[in-house]
Amino acid sequence: MKRDRDTFGRLAAVSNGMLLTTFGLLAALLWYCRVEALQWHDPGRRCWLAAAGLLGSWMVLVGWFRHRRGPAENGETASATPASQTAAAPVSAVADPVRVFYASQTGLAEQLARQTWQSLQTAGVPSRVDAIDASTLATLRDTSRALFVVSTTGDGEPPDMAVAFARQAMANAADLHGVRYGLLALGDSDYDEFCGFGRQLQRWLRASGAQALFDPVEVDDEDAAALRHWQHHLAALCDVRDLPDWQPPRYQPWQLAERRLLNAGSLGGPCFHLALRPLQGAASWQAGDLVDIGPRHAPADVAQWLSAHALDGNVTVMFEKESPTLSNLLARCRLPAPGEMTGLDEVAVAARLQLLPHREYSIASVPADGAIHLLVRRQGNLDGTPGIGSGWLTMHASIGSEIALRVRRNAAFHAPADARPLILIGNGTGMAALRALLKERIDAGRYRNWLLYGERQQAHDFPYRDEISQWLARGQLERADFAWSREQAERVYVQHRLRQAADTLREWVAAGAAIQVCGSLQGMAPAVDAVLGEVLGDTALEQLRETGRYRRDVY
Ligand SMILES: Cc1cc2nc3c(=O)[nH]c(=O)nc-3n(C[C@H](O)[C@H](O)[C@H](O)COP(=O)(O)OP(=O)(O)OC[C@H]3O[C@@H](n4cnc5c(N)ncnc54)[C@H](O)[C@@H]3O)c2cc1C
Ligand SMILES: NC(=O)c1ccc[n+]([C@@H]2O[C@H](COP(=O)([O-])OP(=O)(O)OC[C@H]3O[C@@H](n4cnc5c(N)ncnc54)[C@H](OP(=O)(O)O)[C@@H]3O)[C@@H](O)[C@H]2O)c1
Ligand SMILES: Cc1cc2nc3c(=O)[nH]c(=O)nc-3n(C[C@H](O)[C@H](O)[C@H](O)COP(=O)(O)O)c2cc1C
Repeated sequence: MKRDRDTFGRLAAVSNGMLLTTFGLLAALLWYCRVEALQWHDPGRRCWLAAAGLLGSWMVLVGWFRHRRGPAENGETASATPASQTAAAPVSAVADPVRVFYASQTGLAEQLARQTWQSLQTAGVPSRVDAIDASTLATLRDTSRALFVVSTTGDGEPPDMAVAFARQAMANAADLHGVRYGLLALGDSDYDEFCGFGRQLQRWLRASGAQALFDPVEVDDEDAAALRHWQHHLAALCDVRDLPDWQPPRYQPWQLAERRLLNAGSLGGPCFHLALRPLQGAASWQAGDLVDIGPRHAPADVAQWLSAHALDGNVTVMFEKESPTLSNLLARCRLPAPGEMTGLDEVAVAARLQLLPHREYSIASVPADGAIHLLVRRQGNLDGTPGIGSGWLTMHASIGSEIALRVRRNAAFHAPADARPLILIGNGTGMAALRALLKERIDAGRYRNWLLYGERQQAHDFPYRDEISQWLARGQLERADFAWSREQAERVYVQHRLRQAADTLREWVAAGAAIQVCGSLQGMAPAVDAVLGEVLGDTALEQLRETGRYRRDVY
């Protein structure tokens, strides 16, 4: 098979040479047959026939080579699925390709899998990258070298795109003795089941007889050292000393342009509409995408910490190739607990600081709005103080101030590319992504949209009420059902509204509708899932998930 592909490659090169030769011959033939300088004479029937014959044979020959070489080597996309990228590699074209598989919920594992693929390409190793849901047990058995980049969601669960693979392929040990693999598992040690899915995958691969190329690499909250470790393994796999360092995703400076409280008088926590504009260049995103925000502590908290440690915040320190003042740096880092930094000076403290992890927020707008909109609920600690990220965005950051932000592509929550009907279900701040999806659909003239949304009281907790009412009035939103949980004695939630509309749900799904759910991971998401299974049947729901017609962004 490999030899065949090489042979065809050489033949195709010959065929390209033949193209030039053919045109040369044609020119000579026509010249000979009476094309005189700047004067045209019909060369005659015999010459025309000879020229046409030559040209025809050449086209048939080249067409045949191109057909046999397949789409990837012809520079076309090899797979129908956009989640797949392949390329022939110049150096080790004789080696088996490395297959990179990813399972991602909010896009990071996908991004790292693509960077992995890019590194392999750079080193000349033939490779391709695919979402795990594009692969089966048979695909894996045919793979001699596989790299998995997977995250964990829920409570130690696989990302939605890997649910079917986990249930079907991983149900029992398989025969994978010919497979060698590497595993990059993303997780967060704040969760009980750290890297739950990555570890489950590792156990299954080992039980199935697959051989590890190297020890699995577990990444706690994007830990840069662990990612460098993975790159080091990649370099060894590619048999090169070094691969170009991956650029860690960088924050860009954005400006907080607007902040509005949306739920005055609510029984729930305060919820704000924010608008942010880039301070450098332009940004692009798609409905369903997220932003990562680099949070900061309130200036008063930093000042208090400095004074408790008798340190001067104005001292310039060194930190990861930057030279900020200590107070500027402290604002972006975990504030060390009392006693942790006793006796250290400003420079020594800076050397021990760790950046705060980013916070994710769903984008509530589309690029045509000219700004990124967010819908942020201020989260509270037990002592009444605000959460770090939501407190920074909704209280401490002043209008006009700079916010460190990066857009995160979240392809698993993009809307279907076609005009099929769309059912949008969510609660609370889940409205953010639902609003962006609705805006995108309406801008594209796609009006078969149905919104099911739950919040506490209509009078206080109806974000973007005017806009939604207008869409309904204009027929751009075909139907909307609301669950106002605190307007009656018992709690009524969005899943109850969904069950009440069971017949309509069946009709929409029969008409090809896709379903997108955004909001609470605890409570709402499993309850909606249960109602969908009850109304549509568990098998049908699984099929919807597997075919990308049931997508969730729940947190
Ligand atoms: C994919 C994704 C999308 C998100 N989109 C939005 C959005 O559009 N709008 C929005 O407001 N938020 C959204 N969030 C949540 C957001 O990222 C932050 O987690 C939230 O703002 C709290 O962060 P904080 O720094 O203010 O709180 P922290 O300082 O981290 O914690 C403050 C308090 O909140 C509690 N807390 C933290 N996490 C949780 C949790 N999961 N459940 C219950 N209590 C918790 C902590 O225990 C603590 O008491 C999203 C999260 C994810 C993962
Ligand atoms: N992963 C993270 O990083 C993170 C961080 C912070 C918060 N969160 C979570 O984010 C979620 C969204 O928060 P939010 O503030 O936007 O929403 P929310 O304020 O928690 O709730 C919005 C609506 O959902 C209702 N609700 C409560 N339980 C429900 C259930 N079992 N089924 C369906 N609806 C239910 C609420 O009703 P009632 O209040 O009347 O019961 C309310 O009407 C919360 O679950 C929160 O725990 C996640
Ligand atoms: C709702 C939610 C649940 C999560 N659950 C876990 C978990 O149980 N165990 C874990 O190690 N990490 C957990 N994580 C952390 C993610 O695995 C981690 O952020 C990862 O980098 C996300 O990668 P992705 O964007 O490719 O999905 C969770 C994250 C979110 C948002």
